[in-house]
Amino acid sequence: MKDFFVQDAINQGKGNVTLQGWVYRERKSSKVGFIVLRDSTNIIQCVVKKDSVDAKSWNVMENLSVECSIKIAGEIVEDSRAPTGYEVRATTLELVGGSEVFPITKDQSKEFLADNRHLWLRSRRMNAILKIRSTVFGAIHEYFRNKNFYEFQSPIFQGTQCEGGSTLFEVNYFGKPVYLAQTWQLYAEAGIFSLENIYCIAPSFRAEKSQTSRHLTEYWHAEAEITWADFNDVINLGEGLIKHVIKNVLEKNKHDLEILNRDIEKLKLSLDNPFPRITYDDALKILEEKNNLKVEWGKDLRTVEEDELVKNFDTFVIVTHYPKKVKAFYMKESPSNPDVVHGCDFLAPEGYGEIIGGSEREPDLEKIKQRLIEQGEDPDDYGFYLDTRKYGSVPHGGFGMGVERLLAWLCASGNIKEVIPFPRTMRRVTP
Ligand code: 4AD
Ligand code: MG
Repeated sequence: MKDFFVQDAINQGKGNVTLQGWVYRERKSSKVGFIVLRDSTNIIQCVVKKDSVDAKSWNVMENLSVECSIKIAGEIVEDSRAPTGYEVRATTLELVGGSEVFPITKDQSKEFLADNRHLWLRSRRMNAILKIRSTVFGAIHEYFRNKNFYEFQSPIFQGTQCEGGSTLFEVNYFGKPVYLAQTWQLYAEAGIFSLENIYCIAPSFRAEKSQTSRHLTEYWHAEAEITWADFNDVINLGEGLIKHVIKNVLEKNKHDLEILNRDIEKLKLSLDNPFPRITYDDALKILEEKNNLKVEWGKDLRTVEEDELVKNFDTFVIVTHYPKKVKAFYMKESPSNPDVVHGCDFLAPEGYGEIIGGSEREPDLEKIKQRLIEQGEDPDDYGFYLDTRKYGSVPHGGFGMGVERLLAWLCASGNIKEVIPFPRTMRRVTP
C-alpha cells in the first residue's frame, strides 16, 4: 500500500521523493517532458529531461499519455511557476498502467460527463467535492456519537408510505408490492423505546418525477430521533448538526473549497450566528412585505417562495408551525392552535432549499389514525407504528437532513447531481 502522497512530497519540500499517481497533463519535446502528476491528495509538476534519465525512463516519457499510471522518482524543489509551487526533477520514470486515449477532454457537455461519470470522478473538481463529502459523513457520525446517540438501522423494503404516496418506489416483493424507504422514521420511532437517542445515515428513495437541481431519486439521509424531547430540542439538535458539519469542513477542506472557488465567508456566517427561527405566518408576512409575493395561508411554500424568503437572511433560517394540512400525518398538532403543527424546515442561504425537515411527533393515537384516514391511508397498515403510542409513549421528535442538499450548499454546486458519486434521477440510472 502506498504511504507517501503528492501532498506529503509538497510538505517535505526538498530532497528525494518517489511518487505514484496518474498523468493529469503532459507535453513533451525531443529533449524534455513535462508531466502534471495527480494522486488523491494533490497535483505536482514533474520534469523529465532526456539527458538526466536512463534510456528506459525516456522511452516511457516518449510514449506517455493522459491517465497513464506511473511511478516517478527524483528531487523535489520549490518552483513558483509550477501549478502547486513545487516541481519534481525526475531521475527515473516507470510505467505502471498504460492508458487508451482518455475520452474526457476540455469543454465537454454535461451529458457527456454524466455518461462518463466513472471517469469524470478523477477530475480535480470531483476529487475536491468527494473529499468534502467524506468529511461531512464523518462529521455527522462524530456529532451524534459525541452526544452518545446509538446508530440504528431501518429496513429499506417497507410496507407503507411515510412522506406521501406520490414519491413511493414500488418493488415487486415475491408478488407483493412493497416500497423503498422514503425515511427510517417510522422504525426509528419504535427504536427509541429501546435506545432513546438514535441516528442513522442511509439512502432514502423518492420517485421524484421532476428534473430539478435539488432532487435525486436516491439520496443519503441523515436522520435522528430523540426521546423525552420537545420541539425546541429537535430544532437545537438540527442547528447543532449543521454547525458541526460546517466547522469540520472549514477545518479539513480549506484546499478543496479553494479549488471549488467557494466563498468561505458565506459558510462562516452560518457557523458563527444563530439561525433565525420564524413561524410560517412570519414567513408569509416577510414574503409579502419584502419580496412582494402573496402566499395564501394554508399553502405550502414552493421552491420559488423559499428562494425569495432566504434572500432576507444570510444564514440558515428555520421556518416553524406550518399548516397541518400541508405536513405529514405524524407531526404534533400545536396545543395552542390545532391548524398548525410543530414541524420545521431548515432553509439554506443562497437558494439551496430545504436541508432539514423535522418535527415533534404527535402523541395522540386517535389523531394519528384520523390524519392517516384523511390522507387516504388505512390505519391497519400502520399497526407496528401505532403500537409506539400504546406502550409507554414519551414526548419525542426528530428530523431528516438531505446530505446532498447540504453538500450542494457547502460546495456552492449548481446541481445536487454533482455532489454524489453516481447520481440517480428520473432520467439516469447509469453508470
Ligand atoms: O422533509 P422530508 O421528507 O422529511 C422526512 O423524510 C422525515 N421523515 C425526516 C424525519 O423527521 N426523520 O425529508 C428530509 C430531508 C429534506 O429536508 C431534504 O433535505 C431531503 O431530505 N430530501 C431530498 N434530498 C434529495 N433528493 C430528494 N428527492 C429529497 N427529498 C427530500
Ligand atoms: Mg420536507
